[in-house]
Amino acid sequence: MTPQLTEVDTLTIHVIVNDEIDQISPSPHPAIKHAQSFLGAPLTPLAAGAQPGGAKQQLRMDKLCCGAHGLSLLITATRGAKTHTLLFDAGPEEAVWERNVARLGLDPGQIERIVLSHWHRDHSGGMLSAVRMIEGAKAKAGKGKGKVIVDLHPERPILRGIKVREVVSLEPDPEFAEIEGAGAEVFRSSETHTMLDDMFLVSGEIPRRTAYEGGIRGGVRFNARGEWETDELIMDERLVMCNLKGRGLVVFTGCSHAGVVNVSRHAMELGGGVPLYTVVGGYHLADGTPEKLQKSLEDLKALEPKVLMPGHCTGWRFKVAIEKAMPGCMAPIFGGTKYELI
Ligand SMILES: [Fe+2]
Repeated sequence: MTPQLTEVDTLTIHVIVNDEIDQISPSPHPAIKHAQSFLGAPLTPLAAGAQPGGAKQQLRMDKLCCGAHGLSLLITATRGAKTHTLLFDAGPEEAVWERNVARLGLDPGQIERIVLSHWHRDHSGGMLSAVRMIEGAKAKAGKGKGKVIVDLHPERPILRGIKVREVVSLEPDPEFAEIEGAGAEVFRSSETHTMLDDMFLVSGEIPRRTAYEGGIRGGVRFNARGEWETDELIMDERLVMCNLKGRGLVVFTGCSHAGVVNVSRHAMELGGGVPLYTVVGGYHLADGTPEKLQKSLEDLKALEPKVLMPGHCTGWRFKVAIEKAMPGCMAPIFGGTKYELI
């Protein structure tokens, strides 16, 4: 039986890391609330006697977040008096995760679980730092609620890469022992399961059913026999989702190597009749052919999402295509911005 999600009353997303930042644009969708980040950024109070022009506060450029190729979302859900916080992916590198968390003014100690969408360095690179900062913040605050749990697919490749003419390797993902060594408890699962009072669901393997969503062309992994082998489908990829009261399924996707249509359809299968509300994250269409973009758009539109929240590897061409085909439906995500789904 599919584990059942419980409805949540509210959902807030802090985008800790994303490829693009946009500190100026207002929210394009009435159901997605966010400050224009210049206005939402922490302001620095100026001491009396050091107030140029009489201004009491300063907007400092070194308090704004940085973009980086990757994704990291801090997702907070509430139901009644209960609140739970989950970190979905940890971005590509430690320095950018640390910097953006500090600049957003977030308390890492609130993170109870980390879910890694798939074994790729642009999602796992900040993981060890995140674990250390979470455990450090909890120790400082005297919160002894147990170790942060890192939820991982059990099949971690030794190395992944892309083969065009010759192999280009990614940096290795953190190893299970390194994650434990940083202070976390590792939970390995390839099955659908819920967590945090059933407010969040993590999928198992995402079925690949469309003919046009074929994973990463040239994807390879280094195997235990010491050879690079074809690995285009990235079968360890998983989605996370919530059921937002009165709205529907809010689906989080790291890179959509399964294809954003396969991801969305699988979320709906797991959701047991709850409508699709939005898909947040990387749609991985930046390098898609025009035909793939068109088919993805048609099939995504047929699922009738109320909002689309693309980021990371989606690519500007698909975002333009969404806006043309579904005017007013899109609220793209940007690094350093807090989104409230109202
Ligand atoms: Fe990615």
